[in-house]
Order: sequence, then structure tokens, then C-alpha cells
Amino acid sequence: MHARTPKNFVLEENLERYADFIEPAPQGYAGRWAEACCPIGGAVARADGATHPGRFREVRLDLGCGKGAFTVEAARREPDVLFLGMDDEPLCMARAGGLAAERGLENVVFLAWDGHRVTEAFAPGELARIYLNFPTPFPRKRQARLRLTDAACLMAYRRILAPNGTLRLKTDSRPLYLFTLEELAAAGYKVLWTSGDAREDFPDDPASGYEDRLAANGAKVLALEATPGPAPLNFSPTPQRGLVEYLPQDLAELDYVPLGMEGTVRNMRNREARLWARGRKGNGPADGAGKAS
Ligand SMILES: C[S@@+](CC[C@H](N)C(=O)[O-])C[C@H]1O[C@@H](n2cnc3c(N)ncnc32)[C@H](O)[C@@H]1O
Repeated sequence: MHARTPKNFVLEENLERYADFIEPAPQGYAGRWAEACCPIGGAVARADGATHPGRFREVRLDLGCGKGAFTVEAARREPDVLFLGMDDEPLCMARAGGLAAERGLENVVFLAWDGHRVTEAFAPGELARIYLNFPTPFPRKRQARLRLTDAACLMAYRRILAPNGTLRLKTDSRPLYLFTLEELAAAGYKVLWTSGDAREDFPDDPASGYEDRLAANGAKVLALEATPGPAPLNFSPTPQRGLVEYLPQDLAELDYVPLGMEGTVRNMRNREARLWARGRKGNGPADGAGKAS
């Protein structure tokens, strides 16, 4: 799941060329993003043609934004909202900065920063929304704390979300989606809506790079929106769990293998097929060993 480098792409050159769109030290702006990023002259054009003086109407974060396709398209559609894309992969930041420059947008900035330190980049209540589009699933148990929907991360987002601020998740991974629902409950969030097919339910939403790619591979996009409810009284970190625990018992039910779990599912299907061949299982192999690859 690494960003691919185009031929002749020199990372440092691109980071420098698009430096106006890339912020490597976002802590310096905490609490003043809406004003600090306002274009010189101070009037922000609104979608309805009016202007908004001195500051953006609200600030939204696209956390783990990758190469910025969603961030840039969302920013183009809502010129009075400041869109901040955050990713810890420098190559993604260089590509995202290039895309923003190409579109000539004034309401998008990319933050080269680790999402686990997101509270350093924003003041309490500063964000109207956090988007998590296809967050890296980190399926293994020992990687569980790296997931950006781990309950400890969700507790951190509570601090920087505005009252009534929301978190929107999109993913191709049912295991990650089910895991996230549990973590949201542990961190005291209220789920406002869920969708089992967001492309069908919200066909006009801007798509992220992974959304386009995975939907073309047959993925259904699962989505939800949640808002912080009353804070849990005694929060303690949830147990670390592998996403394999969220796969269906019967792998025949799995008609799409989520990103990042291809090897796991292939191994499980091969194992089932071997057990079946040795006569240790009543049913046939899930639906053909190796189909998941
Ligand atoms: C599967 S990609 C999705 C990219 C984009 N949101 C999309 O939908 O096309 C996940 C992205 O999350 C980023 N990421 C993973 N962990 C992160 C972290 N702790 N902080 C910031 N970015 C992170 C990765 O570098 C990668 O670009």
C-alpha cells in the first residue's frame, strides 16, 4: 500500500516546487487555520457568489489524504471552507501539492504530519469535520494501534472537533468498518448514519483515489458519519484485535476481499481446502482456494 513514484519524479524538487501548498510544521497554526490561510485581501469567495470576510467559514481535515484527489475536489466545490489534507508519506504530499497547484485553489493546504499527533496541529474545537477515506487497515493484531480508527485516536479527535463536528469514514473493508463501529462506541461517539453502498447512496460525493481504484475492482464502499456523544467516564484503551476476527466464519460468504487482507484470506482458503481434502471438514472449500488473489 505504498504510493507509486512516477518515472523521473524527484521528491525533494517537487516538495520544494509546491511548498506553498505543503506545511511541514502545522503546530505553528493551531487555533488560527481559518484566518491564517485566508487569501491576502481577506475575502473568501462563497459558493453562492457572496464573500466571507477575513476567515474561512470552517476548517475540515482529510486525514490520511494520500495524493489528495478527494481533498482537492472537495475544496474546489466549497471555496469558503478550508480543506486540510494530512498524510505522513512525503511522496503523497508532493503529489497532492502538485494537484492543488494545478487547480489553482486557495482553500487547500497539505500537512506532512503523523495523524497520531493530530492534536498538536489543531486547537480544541477547531475542526468542523474529519474525513477518513480508506484509512490504511493495518490488519494484523500487533498493528492495531496504528489504525486511525483505534479508540485512542477517536478520543483524540473528540478534542479537536467542534461541538456537533463529525467524523466521516469510507472504506472497502467490512472488517475495518465493524472494528470501527466498536471503537466508536468505546470512545462515546453517536453514529448518525451508515451506508452499505455509499456510491449508490451518495453518487455526487467527490471520490478519493482509492475509492475510484477499489470500486473499479468490485468493492462496495461502506461509509458512516459519527459525532462525539458524552465522553466515556473512564476510558481505557480497547484490546488489540486483528481484523481477521471480523471476517465471516464461512469464507464462502466473502464475495470481495478487502484491501490488505488478500494474503490472509488466501491462506485461510488454502488451509480450508487442505483440511477438506484430508476429510477433516464436512463442507467443501469456501469457494475455491486461491480465488482471493
Ligand atoms: C489507503 S491510503 C488512502 C488514501 C486516500 N485517503 C484515498 O482514499 O485515496 C491510506 C493513506 O493513509 C496514510 N496514513 C496511514 N497512517 C497514517 C498516519 N498515522 N498519519 C498520516 N497518514 C497516514 C498513508 O500514507 C496513505 O496515504
